[in-house]
Amino acid sequence: MSHPVAVFVSGTGRHLENFASLAQAGELDVDVRLCVSNKEGVLALERAARFGIDSLVLDPGRDLGDEAFSREAFAACTARGVELVLLAGFLRKLVIPQVWEGKVLNIHPSLLPAFGGKGYWGDRVHQAVLDRGCWFSGCTVHVVDNVYDNGPILLQQVVPVEPGDDVHRLAERVFEAEAQAFPEAVRLHLEGRAR
Ligand code: GAR
Repeated sequence: MSHPVAVFVSGTGRHLENFASLAQAGELDVDVRLCVSNKEGVLALERAARFGIDSLVLDPGRDLGDEAFSREAFAACTARGVELVLLAGFLRKLVIPQVWEGKVLNIHPSLLPAFGGKGYWGDRVHQAVLDRGCWFSGCTVHVVDNVYDNGPILLQQVVPVEPGDDVHRLAERVFEAEAQAFPEAVRLHLEGRAR
């Protein structure tokens, strides 16, 4: 039986679509049961609808504290039998309930611990990499704990920074690596082969 997963999003949802497509094609043994978004009207929700994935928009007005938000988000996952949560461009702090420890993975668009932590997300990461003059960037899939971008690393992929790169070009190249690395990390995790 496919592994029931939830994908948490805040924006574009390319990873959500990638997971749903791979599942549909039988290339990744997951069943994307739920999309949780902390933002209304984002493209990720349209992509979820296109794949017939149930979605939940939670606290877009930020009325809840991080703990209450997390309790509700994970309760929705439990209610749908989800066993693994994938953070894919999800930009709100989570407090991981004890029973979910080790069952939440995140992708970050740099080689952690470089260019990670609060304030480092999306294009801001790539701009910081360019500003620092790095020759290499990449992506990291890691287990989520209660500190931003901190948990054990499952997989990293290195991407060269080319002379003349701008944020857009670097982001595209890193995303191509992400689209390979995230499903591969999920595979390793589900098969108990993660190091
Ligand atoms: C991805 O590049 C991901 O690495 C990044 O947001 C993008 C989401 O893309 N995540 C972070 O920056 C988290 N700190 P998507 O919404 O199109 O899947």
